[in-house]
Amino acid sequence: MTPTVAHFGKDLIGLEPLTGDQIRAILDTAEPFKEISERRIKKVPVLRGKTIVNLFFEPSTRTRISFEFAEKRLSADTVNIQTAGSSVVKGETLVDTARNLEAMRIDMVVMRHSASGAARFLAERIPSNVINAGDGSHEHPTQGLLDLLTIRDNLGKIEGAKVCIVGDILHSRVARSNIYGLIKLGAEVAVCGPPTLQPVGIEELGVHIFNRVEEAIEWADALNVLRLQLERMQSGYVPSLREYNRLWGISTARLEHAPKELLILHPGPMNRGVEIDSDVADGEHSVILDQVTNGVAVRMAVLYLLAGGAPEKAESAKGGAES
Ligand code: CP
Repeated sequence: MTPTVAHFGKDLIGLEPLTGDQIRAILDTAEPFKEISERRIKKVPVLRGKTIVNLFFEPSTRTRISFEFAEKRLSADTVNIQTAGSSVVKGETLVDTARNLEAMRIDMVVMRHSASGAARFLAERIPSNVINAGDGSHEHPTQGLLDLLTIRDNLGKIEGAKVCIVGDILHSRVARSNIYGLIKLGAEVAVCGPPTLQPVGIEELGVHIFNRVEEAIEWADALNVLRLQLERMQSGYVPSLREYNRLWGISTARLEHAPKELLILHPGPMNRGVEIDSDVADGEHSVILDQVTNGVAVRMAVLYLLAGGAPEKAESAKGGAES
């Protein structure tokens, strides 16, 4: 098969190394795959005979299940491994786990890990395709892609869109993947949150910084509201959850001052009443569940492309619409 612009290499570790054209090709490939999930029989033979291991060393609801649906809808054989049920709890290293999986002749590994760099570490040591499902505070590329697809679906285009990422930027792999992807596709990107939760030098990535959430709301077309990652905080980043909600929480009262209607995204899981109020999360401008739906199509596209599929053949590969 002749490599095209969409072929981004053996692995998907992050959006930082990809070009705008490669990211666009993934989003364009996801478009025809959306329809498979709307069928009565949600299955096409695109990855028949491929074996994929979902290796999750951290909790996940959306990403793990979304990958599993994507794999099954493309007819791959899948195995799920979570830390608690694996020999990792007996002290086995990541590389030994992976080598043992390789010995069983697998094709791809989807991995979530608490350590930044774990996905690259694995990708450099095994011949299977590795997809990063979130590594520490580094990147979460398929989340970034599904956010891009959802923004494109709702605003019509990404180029020129003003997107503000609000909240705990410091610990967020979602923020990094969003920033790389949005900027490569021509969006204007801002971040907003407590100074204690902004990484030093974040402006070097090409983002604006808002110190007050009211300014961000006045400026943006879309807000991507991040979860306050309490499990990664040692201490002292925010005075209290109540204080955080008062200063940075996205509420209907705050949004009423927006000069235009804002698209509201959140990668989940949400802390309702902390970074986002329930009436906003469930409100008419929220696309949070659309993000989840798009996640399956984006992951199908990534799996298909890594398996050597061509974007222009995605429509015919899935066999057209079911009659
Ligand atoms: N957005 C996201 O990564 O959610 P999970 O942690 O549930 O996978």
